[in-house]
Amino acid sequence: MMRFDILTLFPEMFQGPLSESILKRAQQAGLLHIHLHDIRDYTTDRHRSADDYPYGGGAGMVLKPEPLARCLEAVLAEDGQPDGERPPVVLLTPAGRLFTQAQAQAWARQPRLILICGHYEGVDERFIERYVSDEVSIGDYVLTGGELAAMVVVDAVGRLVPGVLDLSSLGEESHDGGLLEYPQYTRPANWRGSEVPPVLLSGHHAEIARWRHEQRLRRTLERRPDLLKRARLSERDREILRSWGWQPEETSER
Ligand code: ADE
Repeated sequence: MMRFDILTLFPEMFQGPLSESILKRAQQAGLLHIHLHDIRDYTTDRHRSADDYPYGGGAGMVLKPEPLARCLEAVLAEDGQPDGERPPVVLLTPAGRLFTQAQAQAWARQPRLILICGHYEGVDERFIERYVSDEVSIGDYVLTGGELAAMVVVDAVGRLVPGVLDLSSLGEESHDGGLLEYPQYTRPANWRGSEVPPVLLSGHHAEIARWRHEQRLRRTLERRPDLLKRARLSERDREILRSWGWQPEETSER
């Protein structure tokens, strides 16, 4: 069981993605609890203003620290473990560290995760310093706000919570072992003149496994050679990759 708390100016944006398919069933089954909190409910002025002009000038608006702090304090007090640890408090921002499968796996082991959707030109840095444990970006592009990014994180983390997916489908997937997934085929065996690779119809399980593994190596080399630096590779894998022109770098980074 895992609890997500999402602090946002646009709670309605979450209705579609969280109420369909696997995330919907996981919530109905009580495996995931997703709570949405409207930051504007924690403003105190007549106009319910959550943002203001940036000190020093510049374009756009900045999220004010006080409504965010009041919202987060209320959320932390809900269901608070008496002297328990603080859950990770994550700010979604294009200025964050890149969100990865490894990060998703680490957060899936937590009982609770708090996600704060940044907006406009940013969030007052004093709030970040005081409350935020992790600033993450879901990729090198800029969204209009953190909401879609938060949904990506809930999806990627939520599906790893035990019971949410069939364990079978968690075995080999893209980025598992640091390699991309192999190509998949289903019936018919001949579709509009295109054949399924014959090895998959052969019934030779060892050959199928070898073919799939080579496909993973080939795809990763072609599409994401950067992943090979950290992938778990056997000596045979390295040989195959070298035969395809791969040149491992001299110094291996972490
Ligand atoms: N907010 C705007 N762009 C973002 C991104 N790429 N990742 C996370 N939050 C964002």
